[in-house]
Amino acid sequence: MKLMVTGGCGFIGSNFILRMLESYPDVRIVNLDLLTYAGNLENLQDAKKYGQRHIFVRGDITDMDLVDSLLQDGPDAVINFAAESHVDRSIMDSSAFVRTNVLGTQVLLDACRRHGVKRFVQISTDEVYGSLGSEGVFTEMNPLAPNSPYAASKAAADLLVRSYHKTFGMDVLITRCSNNYGPFQFPEKLIPLMITNAVCDSRLPVYGDGLNVRDWIHVQDHCRAIDLVLRKGSSGEVYNIGAENEVPNLEIVRHILKRLEKPESLIKFVKDRPGHDRRYAMDASKLRTELGWKPRIDFQTGMDETVLWYLEHEEWWRRIKSGQYMTYYEEWYADR
Ligand code: NAD
Ligand code: TYD
Repeated sequence: MKLMVTGGCGFIGSNFILRMLESYPDVRIVNLDLLTYAGNLENLQDAKKYGQRHIFVRGDITDMDLVDSLLQDGPDAVINFAAESHVDRSIMDSSAFVRTNVLGTQVLLDACRRHGVKRFVQISTDEVYGSLGSEGVFTEMNPLAPNSPYAASKAAADLLVRSYHKTFGMDVLITRCSNNYGPFQFPEKLIPLMITNAVCDSRLPVYGDGLNVRDWIHVQDHCRAIDLVLRKGSSGEVYNIGAENEVPNLEIVRHILKRLEKPESLIKFVKDRPGHDRRYAMDASKLRTELGWKPRIDFQTGMDETVLWYLEHEEWWRRIKSGQYMTYYEEWYADR
């Protein structure tokens, strides 16, 4: 199988590529990634042992000529992970989000159509559904009601993908997953931010009352679900992905501090994120019943392994948490 993966140098894309190369000896992957602040070739060190089965191309998914040239020899499928992915950055400036997440998806869809690519898998998010109160879960039937510019750009992309199925009969699938955690996550997101700040005895900035709830899933369970959807999903369908693991933010932060034997006095409650979604919870029963998926990594074990991974890969995150990252950090957190 020949695949084109976009955004394969980010957190989930790199985990997916390594998993596919390891699981299927006949899989060959072209990885198109712009290497934005979030992309890191170091995430794919282990792909080197697979030689030419993984080919990295630095480039932009909005670059029509480049995408066209890469699709000349017709991969079997394109899996689109490439995105601007951080809600807080989308609040600071949403332009890159619209460009990559919306325009980039349209460029990929058109190119796939021209070159007769058999399948297109769009990696989306539960955030397109908006926010829940204390009750209920998101099913695939929920209306799209995105609240952040990030979520709005992902919802727009989902609607484009859907339209290419309805209008052109393209074989497309959309996966919507809840919050991921695990190795190689960029330390702007809650879990790696809190682990790395705690290691440095820096303040842990908790938004609002810390009681917002996210439905956490290990990145490997997410990647296994994408693999199943790619191989066995029904054309035109949306699949929710989630591990039924709702945890309030404060509980996660306390867990990390306990695990690292650091004091709770490091917690700093800060001004809330504007438009902050209160709660996400996914109903993934369609994926479970139709494709036989279930999560394998329980949260305690997954978190222990993740904390250990960040402790053992200090060079990786210390390199990131310098320079450009500090400018972002100061700009976003200074007034909070
Ligand atoms: P990430 O920010 O870690 O990685 C994004 C990757 O995309 C980076 O390697 C970056 O260089 C690349 N990229 C950005 N703009 C590009 C462009 N114009 N052209 C080519 N490459 C570009 O993101 P992630 O957390 O790995 O998320 C991957 C996908 O999964 C995203 O589409 C995101 O919306 C979705 N998702 C993420 C989560 C989560 O918890 N992280 C949950 C559900 C869905
Ligand atoms: P995040 O990792 O940004 O993911 P998302 O907003 O896409 O769900 O945030 C997860 C939760 O953690 C969310 O409720 C916001 C909260 N949060 C903080 O309290 N402090 C922080 O510094 C960050 C980055 C997030």
